[in-house]
Amino acid sequence: MKVKDLEFKKLITAERIEKKIASLGHQIEKDYQDKVPLFLPVLNGSFMFAADLMKVITIPCRISFVKISSYAGTVSTGQLKTLIGHDESLFGLDVVIIEDIVDTGLTLQKIMDELKGLGARSVETVALLRKSPAREKNIEVKYVGFELEDEFVLGYGLDYDGLGRNLKDIYRKV
Ligand code: IMP
Repeated sequence: MKVKDLEFKKLITAERIEKKIASLGHQIEKDYQDKVPLFLPVLNGSFMFAADLMKVITIPCRISFVKISSYAGTVSTGQLKTLIGHDESLFGLDVVIIEDIVDTGLTLQKIMDELKGLGARSVETVALLRKSPAREKNIEVKYVGFELEDEFVLGYGLDYDGLGRNLKDIYRKV
């Protein structure tokens, strides 16, 4: 499949994604059964993952979207903008960040730092995908769907220059 100038090949099917999300959701429900977590999906990439994950979770919870961006094309620019979207206090709340993918971990670390400053009782992360740089740097992600090598992927919310977010499967660049 071609997207702009690049060729992509299917890596993870929609069926596998669905099964993985069911198991992630059940694990999170179990861990938070006595709490009322606040889920913070990080836009844009996590919109599809967040929607499917939230449908699996049946315990009382809140959802509020945040946004930050560090990518232009297929290489992380390393230039982080600030977190926008959530302006209420997080005092005493159990926050679960929902990320599509953790690559270098820069984005996640920035978000974690900002949230701790807002008084959250606990902050954990669920990421559908985690690449090897984050693993190597020991970026803490409590719930991980799939582990990837250092490869560029798109689909299921993830984009290449704004394209491909609508695809229901995940593809990797060949
Ligand atoms: P990090 O700060 O390097 O961990 O990058 C995290 C963000 O970059 C993710 O939330 C994605 O939006 C984006 N990103 C990282 N890797 C990919 C990829 O392979 N495809 C599309 N977007 C990616």
